[in-house]
Amino acid sequence: MNKDNLLKEAKRVLLDNFQPEGFTIPCKGLYPFQWKWDSGFIAIGLAHFDIEKAKSEIDSLLKSQWGNGFIPHIVFHNDSDTYFPGPDFHHTYLHPEASKKYKSSGITQPPVIGFVLEELYRLAEDKDDILCFIESRIDSVYKNHHYFYSHRDPFDEGLVYIYHNWESGTDNSPMWDHIWETMDPPDYDFQRKDTTHVDASQRPTKREYDHYINIIEIAKSCNYDDRLIAERSPFLVYDPLFNAMLLKSNESLIKLYGIIGDQYEKVEQLEKWQEKSKKSFNDKLFDHNLNAYIHYDIRNSKPIPLISSSSFTPLFAGIPNKEKAVKLIQTLQERFGGENSYLCASFDPTEERFNPKKYWRGPVWINLNWIIYKGLKRYSFDEMAERLKNETVELIDKEGFKEYFDPRKEVYKNQGHGGYGGNDFSWSAALIIDLLNQ
Ligand code: SER
Repeated sequence: MNKDNLLKEAKRVLLDNFQPEGFTIPCKGLYPFQWKWDSGFIAIGLAHFDIEKAKSEIDSLLKSQWGNGFIPHIVFHNDSDTYFPGPDFHHTYLHPEASKKYKSSGITQPPVIGFVLEELYRLAEDKDDILCFIESRIDSVYKNHHYFYSHRDPFDEGLVYIYHNWESGTDNSPMWDHIWETMDPPDYDFQRKDTTHVDASQRPTKREYDHYINIIEIAKSCNYDDRLIAERSPFLVYDPLFNAMLLKSNESLIKLYGIIGDQYEKVEQLEKWQEKSKKSFNDKLFDHNLNAYIHYDIRNSKPIPLISSSSFTPLFAGIPNKEKAVKLIQTLQERFGGENSYLCASFDPTEERFNPKKYWRGPVWINLNWIIYKGLKRYSFDEMAERLKNETVELIDKEGFKEYFDPRKEVYKNQGHGGYGGNDFSWSAALIIDLLNQ
């Protein structure tokens, strides 16, 4: 397909998935509600051709913010029975500050909205209009960051924890396998819906879902109180992707407040968070043997010495110095970048547990590619950035706007296809629009 047709198709996907309530579903059937980080990436795509829809995407999400600043990972604006766990599962009314108006989950997702606002500022033609929009929303995002540093940083080290694998966005990554071994959840009786839309071999197992559900049951038993959750959740992790998104968003808020003007206290606070977080990030999450950023398991007090696409996302937030960045790129090239592979597998292809077809255990994801592309550009690794961009476009061109893609090049010849998961997946469409316009 030529560039114009790809752009036209991508736009069609986004408009098809846009809902009358003013937000975009990630994928028909499979994900029929509003998802937090999906909406951020979708807003970037929408901003290329319909800035009002991009604004509406952000507004629909911010409406669901809790009194304490928390923003949930799913907002149930609409009815649908094609997804589990749906609106009646999470019982967020247990938390005194949860939204009274919108049903939602009680877990969150990577904090992308800060940098998405900066992208909207970059893309909008009418700068006065977008600045006016940002000015009236930015404090909600600041409040969300304040929530993270005041509720999710129990050791006051500038790193915030996630308490559920769904908060990482990389749901069934092999990163969590050893954590599941520390748990023994009941064999719950529930009806999965995802495997009615997508081949079960490309999705997490029933037993994995038992663990996911069990952590939410524990959070409910804590009334979603962060302090109790930090004490009781069997899953408590510093995730480099999650924290990198927070730092990148801090940076964007500093820039945007600078443009708005007269916000010295907030800027000063954001700068303090930045300094402390960057230091801890490099001290605690960089593995000098692997030459990569890794996850840290707080609950079991140990680093998780495995590499995933999340390991390269700190480039986007300017976290490594030049020397570390060079090492990181070597790791990317050596482990993920062989000539028979598309960049960037979601899990280390040299590891035994790498599974190129299964969700976050190996396939390429377009949002991670976009984040890493931006990171490579930031550090002027232009050749690698160009390769990543071309391969991302090639995958979409071959397979359409699939949810995820097999990183092995030969599969496309042997099997005839390599795109997996949902079809017409919104962020695949949104971010291709952005990449094609770089
Ligand atoms: N991505 C998760 C799912 O697969 C939820 O956030 O259902």
